[in-house]
Amino acid sequence: MPLDIMLPDETATAALGAALARALLALLGVVMETGFVVHLEGNLGAGKTTLVRGLLRELGVTGAVKSPSYTLLEPYELSSLHLYHFDFYRFKHPQEFADAGFGEVFGPGAVCVAEWPDKAGEFLPAADLCISLQVLDPGRHATLVAFTENGTACRERMEIFLREARAGA
Ligand SMILES: Nc1ncnc2c1ncn2[C@@H]1O[C@H](COP(=O)(O)OP(=O)(O)OP(=O)(O)O)[C@@H](O)[C@H]1O
Ligand SMILES: [Mg+2]
Repeated sequence: MPLDIMLPDETATAALGAALARALLALLGVVMETGFVVHLEGNLGAGKTTLVRGLLRELGVTGAVKSPSYTLLEPYELSSLHLYHFDFYRFKHPQEFADAGFGEVFGPGAVCVAEWPDKAGEFLPAADLCISLQVLDPGRHATLVAFTENGTACRERMEIFLREARAGA
């Protein structure tokens, strides 16, 4: 079952990222064992990087969170895990994913979050969880779809954390 969430403003998008961070920490054993892959879909300016910024802040990153629009990859070495933030927008061909050797970072202990996953095509490892952001006027709409058991566990925990956050607000 997809999970639909309204994101009235930028803070709500960041809070969704924070909920993802908390869910990943709750599933840390799984992340260490198999890794975790998130595909972040949505048009230009839909809020993908904003969501990752909320995720990284919740994981304790205090410095600048840059969009990987030009660098393609921004890696973060956190105390508990490795987080790789990709943006494949500038790929002219999916083969560039393989040429860059990006496949090597996927696996145990790695959380890989990819903006513009379609641009890497079949080279990109399959998603545990896909988050699609849609631009509304005003605000955004998010749809979460899980593709694996781990993805389902993550989505369920995110739902609980978001409900708690709403109740506490
Ligand atoms: N829920 C929201 N409501 C309104 N504005 C939002 C919301 N979430 C994010 N934004 C705004 O949308 C703009 C674009 O956000 P962001 O850079 O995260 O998009 P993106 O999807 O990463 O874009 P790109 O495809 O260019 O990388 C920012 O100004 C951000 O503040
Ligand atoms: Mg972006």
